[in-house]
Amino acid sequence: MNEHLNFDCFLGKRIHLGVCGSVAAYKSLDLLRMFRKAGIEVSVTLTDGAQEFIKGLSFEALGAFKVWERMFPTLDDTFGHLEPGQAADAMLIVPATASMLARMAHGLADEMLSCQSLAFRGRKLVAPAMNPAMWDAPATVDNCSVLAGRGVEFIGPDCGDVACGDHGKGRMAPLEAIYAAGLRAVAPDDMSDRHVLITLGPTREKWDAVRFWSNPSSGMMGASIAMAAWLRGAKVTVVSGPVNWWFPDDVEVIRVDSAQQMFDASMDVWPVCNTGCLTAAVADFKPVPHGEGKFKKEGRSSLGVEFECNPDILKTLGSIKREDQQLIGFAAETSNIMEAARGKLERKNLDMIVANPVNLPGAGFGASTNSVYVLDRAGRSEEWPNLPKTEIAWRIWDHLLLN
Ligand code: CTP
Repeated sequence: MNEHLNFDCFLGKRIHLGVCGSVAAYKSLDLLRMFRKAGIEVSVTLTDGAQEFIKGLSFEALGAFKVWERMFPTLDDTFGHLEPGQAADAMLIVPATASMLARMAHGLADEMLSCQSLAFRGRKLVAPAMNPAMWDAPATVDNCSVLAGRGVEFIGPDCGDVACGDHGKGRMAPLEAIYAAGLRAVAPDDMSDRHVLITLGPTREKWDAVRFWSNPSSGMMGASIAMAAWLRGAKVTVVSGPVNWWFPDDVEVIRVDSAQQMFDASMDVWPVCNTGCLTAAVADFKPVPHGEGKFKKEGRSSLGVEFECNPDILKTLGSIKREDQQLIGFAAETSNIMEAARGKLERKNLDMIVANPVNLPGAGFGASTNSVYVLDRAGRSEEWPNLPKTEIAWRIWDHLLLN
């Protein structure tokens, strides 16, 4: 369920992946595969400890273009200890052991990965994995604080069961968190001045104790837009209907059920945001509730349900939009797409609208691709047919930033 992380717009970027000796070392193979799928070149260094768990050949077979294992390999690779520093955009050490963190903190260069790390001036990220007692040890605590002070970014570790059977902090962060942090390290940082509000997913409008009115929105479009903004450096607040997308720890996720709850949460957050993108498939109407208990069918041959209006979140945010705020809306249409979208752009006071024909195969609710028309305040209109939702998400921000 992590399709919202399938960005493949990183061609030409390179990550150097350092792997240390830990039971979690095998997970770095999956990470390599994920980065390759995103179009990123990956070079790898295995420490001696890592080679006890896993072989360089596996990384080569999965597409690493260069794997280093020893400090003094051959005459034609005399400067292997400097190469990642000259060519990679970011260095990730996954898993990072206590001893690697100590080597880095003290500037040791007595084996290949420490040497490459010392000679690396770019962004460095570490995903520690170790026993909780080692993580809590004063020496490790001090080493981590030195590294953090020098700008090394830590991904995890998490709390949980560790390989030796202990429980506590020291378990390597989940792969999606490491993968997302790696993408962010090589992505453009062109949204770091933005605090973005995203609404996503369906809403559920309760009728009785066991029934509700809703729609089949998966929330994937919104989740992809939230991730694209986060990758590009934005602070992100998501107001999510009842769907369950993974987000990095520093994305604020407010979970709601009904349109009224989504409205209340969005109104609370909007004043501190400068950008909004409302993708949620909000129920325009809610059934007038039957009452507290369960509606019983006994003695009835039909059922009439009365509906009342829900607030229009997008229109309300548009009506209080300040000069320093930009607002993007979506339009789910089955006919007269451009006309309907232009009407919504004006009526809801938007800067941009993304209209999708929800009745086409491979578009709209539940699909991982979408076909959209984009219209903006400046009068530009574009058609982006049949693209992955992650690609559309990326282009939406490109388009808005061009304004
Ligand atoms: N929207 C909203 N609150 C609502 C209804 C819609 O915030 N109560 C937002 C959606 O998130 C989307 C945009 O408004 O960004 C357009 O939604 P859409 O369903 O296409 O249009 P409506 O304005 O509801 O009009 P209609 O259903 O009649 O086409």
